[in-house]
Amino acid sequence: MARSKVTVVGAGNVGATCAHWIASREIADVVLVDIAGDPPGNFAKGKALDLFEAAPVMKFDLNISGGNDYAMTAGSDVVVVTAGVPRKKKPDGTFPSRDELVATNQAIVGAVVREAAKYSPDAVMIVVSNPLDAMCHVALHESGFPANRVIGQAGSLDTARYKAFLAMELGVSVRDIHGIVLGGHGDEMVPLPRHTSVAGIPVRELIAEDKLQQIITRTRKGGGEIVGLVGVSAWYAPAAGTVEMVEAIVRDQKRVIPSAVLTAGEYGYSGLYLGLPAVLGAGGVERIIEMQLNDEEKGMLEISANAVKSVVGVLGYN
Ligand code: NAI
Ligand code: 2OP
Repeated sequence: MARSKVTVVGAGNVGATCAHWIASREIADVVLVDIAGDPPGNFAKGKALDLFEAAPVMKFDLNISGGNDYAMTAGSDVVVVTAGVPRKKKPDGTFPSRDELVATNQAIVGAVVREAAKYSPDAVMIVVSNPLDAMCHVALHESGFPANRVIGQAGSLDTARYKAFLAMELGVSVRDIHGIVLGGHGDEMVPLPRHTSVAGIPVRELIAEDKLQQIITRTRKGGGEIVGLVGVSAWYAPAAGTVEMVEAIVRDQKRVIPSAVLTAGEYGYSGLYLGLPAVLGAGGVERIIEMQLNDEEKGMLEISANAVKSVVGVLGYN
């Protein structure tokens, strides 16, 4: 059986780490694409070579290649888009919001999506570049793909952060934390404590409400916490969240992963990318699951959706 092929556009922190996790889990052959380097493409070529040189030690049988020529990406099953400019601490100590990246990354994401779509017309595209939900609209618009094959990665990361903070607080294994974060990839995202459990035990039986609220706030600001510490945005957890989605698609796992998906009436929204529980398999988004939210949860989702709408509004597509 032929191996699957995954293209990762952008061989920077998130993209290269995606390639790393894909290789370590032997999920698929990887093509890394990046304009950086002299001549352009050498950066991705070098990173791919370095990763392949790890194969005899780490024992993965995969082709790993890199460059800036999209012909290399032809026939990919999945295309991951991480190209763009990340959040970076400014000299005054503040850092740009994800939304401030919109104009720069719209141009970059638009260009790379057009090229990638031309060479892999049947691929599932996973968008990672920020501002995430708006960049999904760019990818949908520029690829011409059906919406089930254009998905954004955010909920996987945001949920992982939420679970990690709960596991740290409760002193239990991360494996036993079950929960979900909905909404856009911004500070208005919607962690759902009513749907969070520790091995089936409702989380509110195990943690004081003020501690739980602190964890919810920390989750919403989780991206900024890393920028504040490291100086640039995170890559290990974002790449892990992305590769969870890649694996679900390549291995047709039917995993339920909160993902940025194009709404068509679900939760009362239409034509807007929003983080919702989605069944991911070989077809990309195979189904969006409609949860029974209470009025408070619906209200929080609406605030998050409005924040996404305001960024999508500046893309100029309507
Ligand atoms: P990075 O700066 O380390 O890497 C970005 C790469 O994109 C660079 O190597 C750059 O040369 C490349 N690039 C720029 N224009 C290109 C083009 N036209 N064609 C090909 N490659 C191009 O940035 P990092 O940390 O990897 O972040 C990448 C993006 O992912 C950023 O927009 C960041 O905000 C976003 N991000 C999203 C997350 C999410 O959960 N959705 C989490 C973390 C980051
Ligand atoms: C993150 O959440 C900045 O979106 C990036 O780490």
